[in-house]
Amino acid sequence: AFGAVQQAPEDPLFGLMAAYRKDEDSKKVDLGIGAYRDNNAKPWVLPVVKKADDRLRDDPNLNHEYLPIAGLANFTTASQKLVLGDDSPAISEKRVVSLQTVSGTGAVHLGGLFLSKFYTPSNSESKAIHVSSPTWANHNQIFSNVNLPIKTYPYFSKETKGLDFDGMVSSLKSATEGSIILLHACAHNPTGVDPTQDQWKQISTIMKEKSLFPFFDCAYQGFASGSLSTDAWAIRYFVEQGFELVICQSYAKNFGLYGERAGAFHFVTSPGSHAQETTSRVGSQLAILQRSEISNPPAYGARIASLILNDKELFAQWEEDLRTMSGRIKEMRKALRTKLEEKKTPGTWNHITDQIGMFSFTGLNEAQVQRLREKYHVYMTKNGRISMAGLNTNNVDYFADSVDAVVRE
Ligand code: LMR
Repeated sequence: AFGAVQQAPEDPLFGLMAAYRKDEDSKKVDLGIGAYRDNNAKPWVLPVVKKADDRLRDDPNLNHEYLPIAGLANFTTASQKLVLGDDSPAISEKRVVSLQTVSGTGAVHLGGLFLSKFYTPSNSESKAIHVSSPTWANHNQIFSNVNLPIKTYPYFSKETKGLDFDGMVSSLKSATEGSIILLHACAHNPTGVDPTQDQWKQISTIMKEKSLFPFFDCAYQGFASGSLSTDAWAIRYFVEQGFELVICQSYAKNFGLYGERAGAFHFVTSPGSHAQETTSRVGSQLAILQRSEISNPPAYGARIASLILNDKELFAQWEEDLRTMSGRIKEMRKALRTKLEEKKTPGTWNHITDQIGMFSFTGLNEAQVQRLREKYHVYMTKNGRISMAGLNTNNVDYFADSVDAVVRE
């Protein structure tokens, strides 16, 4: 009965990680998966997470019962405040419904599934989600799993290695009214290129005019700039503009809780007389979807995050830890650019420091990426993306030398 099942390709990112692990060369450099590494190329348990973890383990009342379907209430409430701001009217007016999810991936899936089933724009053609070109590879797989047609809008300019703002804007202007638009809240994956605040305002105006539906993916709050509010600026601005929208929130990167799968999905209703009622009806349907898919979310990571988010002292320490991570990444951006410019490596390298967050889209082509891997044991995705966190003071020179060599070949 399964004779026709074809062999699927290996996941490119996890395949890359496996290949890196197998490589026995001592000079090998891992710039593949987006996971923070310290200056010794080791995973980093945030000191604040260690503290919260110790406290949890010492708690004699800790048990392993099921969480409610929507997850840990202290966690989802704190998550709303984190992303929307403590004094957000959307929260006080009860226009937000939130569910704890299996990290950002689970949130994107829940959002996609919900929109696929319940979003009814007046024009059925608009029942498509427009994603940036390029976007996080998993977006495409997730939305196709829930039968949400996918379209793309231009995003990255190969010439400037920055934002193709004109291309993006004209694509949004020509999208069918009511279409869903996926936006990366900050630290765009894979390019590291974000709109400026002024550009976000223009995007919002166009989206308002065309009744486009914002679908925010927020995986790097606090990790990108080091400031939680700066990184949530675009989302908060859109909410202020009165949009109805959804937000997918991941705590993998900003808490370093990758494997614990802590995240949240938020649905925000626009202000209006039926807002509370709509929010509550949407919440009831989301709960049914959640129950049928995962029953209830995993507890441990959310407990850690919740402890930190709800405790002033721990929260302040977390902000310190965020600055440690974002600061080290910025240092590495500077070091890499300086080194390449000193070597007069052909091309321009300002984009390395202009881009933000976990990734940089280097502009290296597939053949160069292949060469870096085969000859220099440097692992990065085929599209030329590097995870900046894989660089450190011990390997940045080696990486720059290797890039210089392959660019000149
Ligand atoms: C990445 O893009 O490397 C990360 O977001 C990890 C993932 O799940 O793809």
